[in-house]
Amino acid sequence: MRNGAAIACALALGACSQAAPPPLTGEALIARGDYLVNNIGGCNDCHTPMTPQGPDLSRALQGAPLGFAPTVEMPWAPVAPPIAGIPGHYTEEQFVTFLQTGVRPDGSRPLPPMPAFRLNEDDARAMTAYIQSLPAATE
Ligand code: HEC
Repeated sequence: MRNGAAIACALALGACSQAAPPPLTGEALIARGDYLVNNIGGCNDCHTPMTPQGPDLSRALQGAPLGFAPTVEMPWAPVAPPIAGIPGHYTEEQFVTFLQTGVRPDGSRPLPPMPAFRLNEDDARAMTAYIQSLPAATE
């Protein structure tokens, strides 16, 4: 019995020593967000002005009219608003929550084709840090 208890204890300690790595911060967090926004999220496809060569990344996420529309009648927002630098009606925490729930701070939800993202907290924080680092539209 005593040995059994000692083994269980050692196993538990082993599990503890493999704690999750600390959360990313600073430049590493922004780099992770860059990857999520530009390689996975597809945010530029709608929120960045489009050119024949693709999204104009010198104006990344500064808002744009959509270059496409549905072929059937459905709820639809024809313009993707600017989000670079994070819109003024969001705090950083509210933006993180939006990316985890799809719900704006005022309780509303954006119309299609804005997807309702359900990111985990680490990914939502990384995307937020990156988007916050981008220059907001000047006009
Ligand atoms: C398929 C097009 C599309 C994609 C892809 C897309 N969006 Fe959107 N997004 C929109 C549209 C259109 C709206 C405006 C909806 C409305 O007015 O109801 C919107 C609204 C938003 C809003 C709400 C802005 C506000 O003022 O409250 C945020 C934040 C946002 N998008 C962030 C993102 C992020 C971050 C990504 C990528 C992870 C992304 N969007 C990808 C089309 C898109």
